[in-house]
This record gives sequence, C-alpha cells and structure tokens, in this order.
Amino acid sequence: MIWETKVTLERIQLPEGNFLSLEIEELVNLEATIDALFIELEKTGESALLEELCPYFGCVWPSARGLTEYLLEHSPEEKGGTRILEVGCGLAVPSLALAKHLKFSKIIATDFHPEVPKFLAKNIARNRISSDRFNYEPLDWRNPPENLARFGVVMGSDVLYEKAHPADLAEALVRLVKPLGRVIIADPGRPYLPVFVEEMNARGFFAKPRVYTVPADPVRGETLPHSTKDVQVFDFRKP
Ligand SMILES: C[S@@+](CC[C@H](N)C(=O)[O-])C[C@H]1O[C@@H](n2cnc3c(N)ncnc32)[C@H](O)[C@@H]1O
Repeated sequence: MIWETKVTLERIQLPEGNFLSLEIEELVNLEATIDALFIELEKTGESALLEELCPYFGCVWPSARGLTEYLLEHSPEEKGGTRILEVGCGLAVPSLALAKHLKFSKIIATDFHPEVPKFLAKNIARNRISSDRFNYEPLDWRNPPENLARFGVVMGSDVLYEKAHPADLAEALVRLVKPLGRVIIADPGRPYLPVFVEEMNARGFFAKPRVYTVPADPVRGETLPHSTKDVQVFDFRKP
C-alpha cells in the first residue's frame, strides 16, 4: 500500500509558553513511499513522473514548525481580517494553526500534488477546522491563475529545494501578494535560499531572517527523535 499513514501530534510553542496542538495524519515513512511510488510508475512506464508526483507533501517539515511559531508570535491578522495564501502547503500546518488561532482572517492553502486535498480533508476534520477560516485550492506556482485577487500575506515553508524554485517562486509570490503585503518564507538553509533572497531583493522585497530552533523531522529518519533543526524565517516587505 503506497499511502500508508499514521497520526502524530504537532505541538507548536505559543509566545506565552503554552502549546497549540494539532493532530496530523501523515505518511508513515517518506522514503518507503517514494520507493513504492517509483515501482508503481515503472510498472506503467511513467517513471518520468516521479519528480512531479514525489510525495514530499506527506510529512511535516521542520520549516513548517518554524513558520508556524513565527506566525503565532507575529500575528499576520490586521483589523477586520487578512486574506492569507500558503503555497506548497503539503500538510498545511501553518495554515491550519492560523485557522484555529485567528478570528477574522481567511486562509487558502495551495499545492500542486493531487494527494494533498485528501490528506487535508482528514486533518481538517480531525482538528475541527472551520470552512469560514480555511479552504484548499490546487495551485502550481509555475503557473498561478491570472484572476486571483491579491493577498495581504503569502507564505510557504521548505519550498526552495530545486534549481528552478527561487526564480519561479519569487515571480509567483510577487504576483500574488498585494503591493504593500508580506511574503513570509521559512527555510532550513537549503542551498537555493540565497538565490531566492536575491530574486526577492531584485523585485523590491527585503527581510532580515529570524532563526527558530524546532524539533527535527523524525519521519525522514535522518535525526534522532529529540534533535532540533534551525529554521530561518524571512518576512519580506517593500520598504
Ligand atoms: C518539502 S515539501 C514542504 C511541505 C510543507 N510546506 C512543509 O513545510 O511541511 C514541498 C511542497 O511543495 C510542493 N510543490 C513543489 N513544487 C510545487 C509547485 N510547482 N507548485 C505548488 N506546489 C509545489 C510539494 O508538493 C510539497 O508539498
């Protein structure tokens, strides 16, 4: 079975020291899922689709925890509510946390992977997230829709892991955000991060990173359960 899942508890530190808890259904093992998908695609002669269908969406990456901590510490909600968009949301922990925490804002989480809405539907139900606050829409950031009204905040976590991502994403983000809006990106220090910062600077958006030390992702098996990861959060604005 390709999409074997387990339920874990994400506990995100709130500024006042309490925790916001979310029950998240995620893949049991990302590497095993990638291997199983590769075998399936080989059988149907579609192995070229592996990059496009790679299930990186299926676990909560440390950057999602870092972005969530930042958002709960620096509320993006303006008076009367803010329209917030998450790109490459995967399991959408930052959006789900905001949907639980904010009172007036509307959050739209987006991704291009066809399995994402199925996982989100289960996690929305598990955490009793209101559709007044949260929606999912499919969106490929290489081709964002022309007719989408711009957002006060556009955000994403761990979305800079391929060579084309910095330029493609910077182009999409500045098209999607209001002229005086914020683009908030969290990253674990991937090699393409400096290129992305340059791409944003070239479009007139600047930010100083803040570092959050968060629990590392035990699903990938690359770290021991209680180890941590430093995540940089950039809150880009036009000066
Ligand atoms: C490393 S995962 C991060 C997931 C989630 N943001 C997190 O931090 O837990 C990268 C995500 O970006 C999505 N993605 C990659 N390329 C994309 C594209 N062109 N358009 C939309 N989403 C994309 C993947 O499907 C995946 O969900």
